[in-house]
Amino acid sequence: PAEDEARVDEIKRLLTAHNAVLVAHYYTDDAIQQLAEETGGCVADSLEMARFGARHEAETLVVAGVRFMGETAKILSPEKRVLMPTLEATCSLDIGCPADEFAAFCDQHPERTVVVYANTSAAVKARADWVVTSSIAVDVIEHLQARGEKILWAPDKHLGGYIQKQTGADMLLWDGACIVHEEFKAKGIQDLKALYPDAAVLVHPESPAPVVGLADVAGSTSQLIKAAKELPQDKLIVATDRGIFFKMQQAVPGKTLFEAPTAGNGATCKSCAHCPWMAMNALDNLAGALRHGSGEIFVDDALRLAALKPLERMLNFQP
Ligand code: 13P
Ligand code: SF4
Repeated sequence: PAEDEARVDEIKRLLTAHNAVLVAHYYTDDAIQQLAEETGGCVADSLEMARFGARHEAETLVVAGVRFMGETAKILSPEKRVLMPTLEATCSLDIGCPADEFAAFCDQHPERTVVVYANTSAAVKARADWVVTSSIAVDVIEHLQARGEKILWAPDKHLGGYIQKQTGADMLLWDGACIVHEEFKAKGIQDLKALYPDAAVLVHPESPAPVVGLADVAGSTSQLIKAAKELPQDKLIVATDRGIFFKMQQAVPGKTLFEAPTAGNGATCKSCAHCPWMAMNALDNLAGALRHGSGEIFVDDALRLAALKPLERMLNFQP
């Protein structure tokens, strides 16, 4: 629509005027992903978003995604202004892991190395020895296990269980889940596979174990897009947020992509394969953030320094 075009033009002007760059996650709106790409920003998974923001020389980072992504950007680049279209965009994993309860859990298990998923608050990261994203989690835990370390893992129990299975590490798991991926159902995927027996199954490891068990490839959003290109199959069943279809379909224009079925088959589930918090990012509030400098992320200095250590460990890790 014409209004969207006008917004896009305005955002492009504002990005230049403020020496700003747009960093977007694959689960945000197609229009935002396209804009990030057209303006020299990036569309990426959470690890690549962190790396891109930290390296870029822009004065302002506009992070389209959820709160922890903006916080991570600020922790890594305190000298930059970090804006988000909305500060309300959180994540069920972050909500399900309050810093005080998490600290008490860590206190009960002082002998364990604390590894937290990136989808957490700065306060939870500040308590961790390591931060990991889904694209690097298995490699980091493998490395720690080889050193004989026992792990305390938070907050995603499904991702934690998957890593445990892959590495055989001794892991104590926090009881958290992603409301989007938790909705995918193995039965629905099996039914779809019965219709399309030659289809490959791509799964984000935040999904429950029976769903990951059906995967030809399990991995982060970027890894799934890469796999879509590399797999020989021309039909792909994809169990992750449907926002990924924009870039995935561009990557494999000749292939047919199927959304993996969710609990309510689109009718009754809470999230229906689209993250309600990612969906809060829109052209309007993105333009508003740039226009007014609203949605700025601040992280307390002591907290920032404490959270920086485990984040830097992740960024410096070589598998
Ligand atoms: P990725 O790091 O795979 O992009 O995952 C982030 C996320 O929030 C998945 O739900
Ligand atoms: Fe969090 Fe799940 Fe949304 Fe990702 S998709 S931001 S893990 S609630």
